[in-house]
Amino acid sequence: MNTNPIAQSTDVPVIEAWMQTHLIHLVPEFEIRLKAELAAQINRLKQERDAVILGHNYMEPALYHAVADIRGDSLELCRQATATDRRVLVFCGVEFMAETAKIINPDRTVLIPSQKAGCSLAASITVEDVRELKRRYPGVPVVAYINTYAAVKAEADVCCTSSSAARIVASLNRDTVIFIPDEYLARNVARETGKTVIFPGQAAAGCPGAKTFIAWHGKCEVHELFGVQDIEDVRRQFPEAVVLAHPECPPAVVEAADFSGSTSAMIRYVQEHPARQYFLLTECAMADNIIAENPEKEVLRMCSHRCPHMAQITLEDTRAALDKMQYEVHVPENIRLRAKASIDRMLAAR
Ligand code: 13P
Ligand code: SF4
Repeated sequence: MNTNPIAQSTDVPVIEAWMQTHLIHLVPEFEIRLKAELAAQINRLKQERDAVILGHNYMEPALYHAVADIRGDSLELCRQATATDRRVLVFCGVEFMAETAKIINPDRTVLIPSQKAGCSLAASITVEDVRELKRRYPGVPVVAYINTYAAVKAEADVCCTSSSAARIVASLNRDTVIFIPDEYLARNVARETGKTVIFPGQAAAGCPGAKTFIAWHGKCEVHELFGVQDIEDVRRQFPEAVVLAHPECPPAVVEAADFSGSTSAMIRYVQEHPARQYFLLTECAMADNIIAENPEKEVLRMCSHRCPHMAQITLEDTRAALDKMQYEVHVPENIRLRAKASIDRMLAAR
């Protein structure tokens, strides 16, 4: 997690000077003044509204660096959402993240700047799908990736994020686990925890009691696009580059990478390692955010693969969110309480 001093400034020249120093190679110069003005207005509105902005690591650089008070991966933002005493939480991320913040903060107003910020993983599974899995495999614990909507979390036993998945599965101490909805995350975590992946209707491989993940065919529409060929091409041209892949990437990509971890784990890896050149297989805005704070590092990325949902969250919409107090996130109380139990179990697992 990453708190942010520049996001407290309401002084356009101060913000503009910071952007000129850190974002000049990432944001066209003519846009810097405009973005600095927007950022100053947002930071002023935050004070007036008693609000805090939580920004996922995939937010565009000006928003991420100049207005997000708290920054991080899904797990860190989930933990930090309860640590603030502000009345209003503005979630600059996608819908399931804002919903998670509301689930654990029912007494605060939670806003999301756009109603179009979905997620292909969250959309891949319905509450009826989970109920059917539970009917088919009675008594088998359900682990739901945080990239799911509240009703699905409410049907699960425990949630996980990319940074906590292996730990959560180990904490269950069960041979068979239903792990939904990301097929690739399931395969990557299964490899790490010595499990075999099957899909509903398939027989478990190996001897009775074989360690098994019952998975789902959900995919991240961004990370599924990366291939081993991309890594080979980059290694040929840049033999020194260290390759980092998010665990939502296909297993062959994760195996071919030098490191795989959550968005924050990848940021830390770049900050803490001496190598000068990195290739990041994840949303391209995150590479921009790393470059802004680590100018001595070169970060290669494939900006042809963008998350269209994260890109919905702009500075303009964030200002409008605070100005008009829109769009408020609501979760029905009967769903919220059960979803919260799954999130609480995730947060409690060590
Ligand atoms: P992190 O939990 O690693 O931040 O990932 C969230 C996500 O949606 C990645 O695509
Ligand atoms: Fe969902 Fe993929 Fe976008 Fe993350 S990058 S929010 S998993 S669609």
